[in-house]
Amino acid sequence: MSTTKTIFSSLILSILFMCKGNAEEIEILSLDVISYEDFAADDARALIVLEKALHEKGIVGIRGVPGYVEKVSKFIEASRAFSALPEEIKETYAPNREGGDLFLGYEKGKERFMRPDGTWVIDDLKTSFYVSVPDNSQNIWPVELNLKDPFQALALLMSDTTEAVMEKIGLLGEESGVFLNDEPRMARMLYYRKSIEGSSENPLWCGAHFDHGIFTALIPAFYFVDGEVIPEPEEAGLFVKETSDGVFKKVVANDPEVMLFQVGEFGQLVTNDAIRATEHRVEKAMGCVERYTLALFFNAPMDIVIHSNSELTKDARYGGIAGDPCSFDQWNKASFDRYLVKEEE
Ligand SMILES: [Fe+2]
Repeated sequence: MSTTKTIFSSLILSILFMCKGNAEEIEILSLDVISYEDFAADDARALIVLEKALHEKGIVGIRGVPGYVEKVSKFIEASRAFSALPEEIKETYAPNREGGDLFLGYEKGKERFMRPDGTWVIDDLKTSFYVSVPDNSQNIWPVELNLKDPFQALALLMSDTTEAVMEKIGLLGEESGVFLNDEPRMARMLYYRKSIEGSSENPLWCGAHFDHGIFTALIPAFYFVDGEVIPEPEEAGLFVKETSDGVFKKVVANDPEVMLFQVGEFGQLVTNDAIRATEHRVEKAMGCVERYTLALFFNAPMDIVIHSNSELTKDARYGGIAGDPCSFDQWNKASFDRYLVKEEE
């Protein structure tokens, strides 16, 4: 008998909560989660659930990857230790972008996203630490603590699992024409600071956006108040706009055994819209809550050139014309150019 499970019922639940005096309704996404056992055994029903969820909801989970929970726990511990370092020490691990450095290392409040009214807002409370996976000589590692081992151990496990998912849904291989070859994955340690430290005008820890690569893996987020772990606050967390109905819904990802997967824009481009990129955002928790997570991004090799007929070809980053050639290098650079805050801003 299949052990495939759905974490939450198929009913969309609604929660009413009070936020700054206004009643807002939060819709909960019915997250589909399959077991790793079924996934690894190519269980047909499980693979249908996986693929359908990615197509209709833009997100899916796999529970029970061997060794995952332990690696997540050690990573969160190391992430908290790094985040607790004085700011002036963390800043020494920031890349020198103006000097042409890669963006590997520490980053604080450097991304901006467009609001529905067309104005741009900077994610002032988001800090990141980027590394290549597997480890290479371009990575920057702090000397104050061992971030490298737990970071790489978790990211490598996620990388293997995610690559298998991408192959099974046709994002890698002959069907898409994309092979990862030796292209490193990009892992991003994320620490969202307390909302009381930021601008009250921005209700988001991370503005609504699409990841620009092919595919993304995520761990569930961990929340702390005064050093104590707490359950995810109702108002906070990852919200995903379901592909099928275009409504942002909260992903209740409170099971540390689950690895999550989302689709990126280049995945939509290479499949000519057969699978669509996942729009998502992160809502703040009120007060003194801190949030930790990890995202692993899968890019295409920089020199790959596609001739897409996706509607995303209308985007200026692609060049605006369906069927025209576009390299991942071009798409990648144009995406950073659009979303990264320039030093002079
Ligand atoms: Fe994202």
